[in-house]
Amino acid sequence: MCLCIASVSGLFLIGILKCSWIIYFQKQFKSRLESQIGSDSYMKAAYIHIPFCHHICHYCDFNKVFMKGQPVDEYLEALGKEMELIVKDDRDVLDTIFVGGGTPTALNENQLEKLVQRIQKQLNFDSKTEYTFEANPGDLSKEKLAILKNAGVNRLSFGVQTFNDELLERIGRTHCAKDVFASIEAAKAVGFENISIDLIYSLPGQTKQDFIESIQTALSLGLVHYSGYSLIIEPKTVFYNLMQKGKLPIPGEDAEAEMYETLMEQMELHGLHQYEISNFAVPGYESRHNITYWNNEEYYGFGAGAHGYVNGIRQSNYGPLKKYMEPLSKGELPIMDAHRVTIEEKTEEEMFLGLRKTEGVSIRHFQEKFNENPIELYRDQIREWTSKGLLKTDEGRIFLTRQGRLLGNEVFQSFIGVSNR
Ligand SMILES: C[S@@+](CC[C@H](N)C(=O)[O-])C[C@H]1O[C@@H](n2cnc3c(N)ncnc32)[C@H](O)[C@@H]1O
Ligand code: SF4
Repeated sequence: MCLCIASVSGLFLIGILKCSWIIYFQKQFKSRLESQIGSDSYMKAAYIHIPFCHHICHYCDFNKVFMKGQPVDEYLEALGKEMELIVKDDRDVLDTIFVGGGTPTALNENQLEKLVQRIQKQLNFDSKTEYTFEANPGDLSKEKLAILKNAGVNRLSFGVQTFNDELLERIGRTHCAKDVFASIEAAKAVGFENISIDLIYSLPGQTKQDFIESIQTALSLGLVHYSGYSLIIEPKTVFYNLMQKGKLPIPGEDAEAEMYETLMEQMELHGLHQYEISNFAVPGYESRHNITYWNNEEYYGFGAGAHGYVNGIRQSNYGPLKKYMEPLSKGELPIMDAHRVTIEEKTEEEMFLGLRKTEGVSIRHFQEKFNENPIELYRDQIREWTSKGLLKTDEGRIFLTRQGRLLGNEVFQSFIGVSNR
């Protein structure tokens, strides 16, 4: 049985989704869909991918490259072009913008300035828009923080992972705990109050006590949002190769489950409510961007390897920089595949994405959206998981129990491809 990990960005989320349906892709079909990608419907959210990192962590399989020697400026140009091609002039005000990576804060000051200016030019947002940048601790100078603040960025999400310096080194990070304290202090000093940090648990050699200490240090910072992910060993990473050789001392499933329980307990104790499997917030500071994904709503995805969901079409861009930039230099979109989501897939997605949220799936909302009762549509699945104590239906909602959160992936999988069975 495997434990759950939450999605952290458009890329990550769709990484999980990708396994969940068969994306078929035919050239003719693709170009027909491409012409429909420009948005007609109201688009609430935009994800922008910056694929550069100053170092590569041992566990990471996100679309990223070692930054030195890369055509960063050309990439930013291409990104601007992509937004220009997709977003129409009468565009709506976005509810959220999420700039993720890779490492957006790896850009130098000029590049960062260029990026935020292109975003400003192409996207419509205002002071109410949740505008997030992912950041690596130690990357943000006062100047970079000022550029972000002046551009209207109002949320920072730091990839801390652990406060144990030895563990940080072991997982291939270059920052240490004191960089985190300094970065957060500097961010607060320029006026950022909506700050989140990511922690990872079940790291090689990590004990429950190590993790408790990291949680406590994280909580002592008094932030409004925390994410806690269980380590996933992904193919083509250093950790995967070590694991294949039997040289990666990862804690077992029981230890992992205990760490997750501890995370939930500690967050609750400190007034941070769990609104999704891996996400905890002071009420009012939940990530609106990620909630867009879990509500199965549409969003733009810009950048190499980014995934978008526009006008009922899920689409993904080429990941390698050259393949992404080349079509854009000719005024064409860098779409690798595109798939019009069928009604059956939509209802399945509504279930397995919605169940990630603590509040689960609203029966009334589902009925309004699809004209079907989810209880009847997924009678077998709901019955099975309810009898096993992993799912509950109460006050018009279907949601995971506390036990269900531990085994969420099994529940989600059971909703995938139901209509094809
Ligand atoms: C892709 S990173 C981008 C942000 C930034 N570059 C960083 O590393 O902090 C976003 C988050 O994904 C999580 N993450 C990445 N790979 C993971 C893995 N294999 N298992 C669990 N969490 C992972 C980490 O918590 C990380 O902070
Ligand atoms: S975890 Fe973040 S910093 Fe590390 S390689 Fe992945 S994207 Fe880059």
